[in-house]
Amino acid sequence: MTNHPKPTEWIGDAKTGYVKLLDQTQLPREEIYVEVRDFKTMWQMIKQLSVRGAPAIGIAAAYGCVLGAQKGEFAHAAQYLTTSRPTAVNLFSAIERMKSLTTDNPEHLLREAKAIHAEDASMCEAIGRHTLPLIQHDMGILTHCNAGALATGGIGTATAGMYLAHAEGRKICVFAGETRPLLQGARITAWELSTVGIDVIVICDSAVASVLREDRVHLIITGADRIAANGDVANKIGTYPLAVMAHRHEVPFYVAAPSTTIDFNCPHGIAIPIEERNGSEITPLVRTYNPAFDVTPAELITGIITETGLHSPNELK
Ligand code: MRU
Repeated sequence: MTNHPKPTEWIGDAKTGYVKLLDQTQLPREEIYVEVRDFKTMWQMIKQLSVRGAPAIGIAAAYGCVLGAQKGEFAHAAQYLTTSRPTAVNLFSAIERMKSLTTDNPEHLLREAKAIHAEDASMCEAIGRHTLPLIQHDMGILTHCNAGALATGGIGTATAGMYLAHAEGRKICVFAGETRPLLQGARITAWELSTVGIDVIVICDSAVASVLREDRVHLIITGADRIAANGDVANKIGTYPLAVMAHRHEVPFYVAAPSTTIDFNCPHGIAIPIEERNGSEITPLVRTYNPAFDVTPAELITGIITETGLHSPNELK
């Protein structure tokens, strides 16, 4: 299969190595890789969305813990990194997993971080296999934000089935919502899918209802940042209205995510912390309200695709 771009990669050994990180804020204009050698820079990279997407944030934070351990500051690094972004649960679960080793030996920690990375890659593949039966030749598929290779350790979550279908020769057309205000759909999803030859059409977020009414979309698949125990899903702002419109137009609405994105300690969506970002991302002129995520109620979700299969949102447990 095609070599997908890697959002993060550990280079070198545990004691002196570093993280090679693709700065996604520069895509698609430039493909710039930066060397991250300390945990505070990793915090900044996560905060400013140079690395983003729930699983990729978890992987980056795990590597950030190793960078902290190199300087004898593992505990501080682990705590500090949890303050970078609040919504994606993968950040917290990856750091908890690193802490559960009860060691600050960089070699042991690097082995665990690489395991988190590799496990995510295989979960993406499995999600892809479970998504494949939903994708037929000549389908229009709509996605939002970027839940692709650049958001994970593998072939993405929402995109995994698209990649497998395309590799099998099924012709698909992917509608990528531009994803205001930071344009992850128009910049990142469009870039990564078109690079492998998948037909992508970028639409304004506000064009979704029209495109659905024109019957050009047969399936919607998005990713998730955190899934509550009752099946409510937090994902990029604009996902909830998509689900409402899908319901109105009777288009199936699926969420694809690894089980590491499910937070069984979170009973329902209202309990999910929603990141509010700086208003300057929208406009410097007047007051703004800039929540980065919204919550889609379980009742609007046709199914949740994890590495274990296709689940009804209310039977997650
Ligand atoms: O703010 P971002 O770019 O980190 O938001 C990303 C998303 O909302 C993705 O859909 C989600 O993290 C799933 S990534 C497989």
